[in-house]
Amino acid sequence: MRDKIVAGNWKMNNDLAQTEDLLSNIKNLYKENEGVRVIVAPSFTNLYHSFESLRNSKIEVAAQNMNENSEGAFTGEVSARMLTSVGVKIVILGHSERRAIFKETDELLAKKVDAALENDMEVIFCCGEELNERKAEKHFEIVKQQLEKGLFHLSEEQWEKIIIAYEPVWAIGTGETASPEQAQEMHAFIRKSISEKFGSELANKIAILYGGSVKPGNAQEIFAKEDVDGGLIGGASLKAEDFMAIANAF
Ligand code: PGA
Repeated sequence: MRDKIVAGNWKMNNDLAQTEDLLSNIKNLYKENEGVRVIVAPSFTNLYHSFESLRNSKIEVAAQNMNENSEGAFTGEVSARMLTSVGVKIVILGHSERRAIFKETDELLAKKVDAALENDMEVIFCCGEELNERKAEKHFEIVKQQLEKGLFHLSEEQWEKIIIAYEPVWAIGTGETASPEQAQEMHAFIRKSISEKFGSELANKIAILYGGSVKPGNAQEIFAKEDVDGGLIGGASLKAEDFMAIANAF
């Protein structure tokens, strides 16, 4: 059985007081559900506090990004070791905002993936096409390329630490969601691509999350699809009630 995962990507939201508030509300509403992992990804400055605050809870903490180098003269950057030293063992890499705004390339992301794995971290690797790419019917090609360049150099053993998040860029923060059928179609394609390269046993073990305007009202029908193993949640993860309603949608 694959893990079911609901991860909240807080993006650049929540100062310390807001983080404390949100975490305490999430903890109050959290209901342990066997086989469902709940993850929150606060900003760098709130990671240590979040880890400490969730120490006695099953809720896990992820970072939203990290640098590919292990240390050195990289002003303003954060390394994998810095993250693991404050208890963070999961990192989101390749989010479309990192790709689009901060110009992160597939080649750079492959290095970040390697650095995370060298530090024994799990990676939530994001992929997804832009609207013009879908309109031009290039979405499968684009996603396959992102996977090939970012992840296909890994060994089978390294894949144990990989979670994939399919996030069509046109559905992120727009209120527009991929239909459950569109999500399933792409998730099945992603699994098939992994299977062709690494075999079906490995492909069937990889959790593939959907991201893009998931809300309490649509989570259930999206998560019901065979190849959808959960969600990466942006906007709705900032409200404890909504986030936990989504986490309880399984
Ligand atoms: P959204 O963001 O849920 O606000 O669309 C998803 C994401 O960017 O991970």
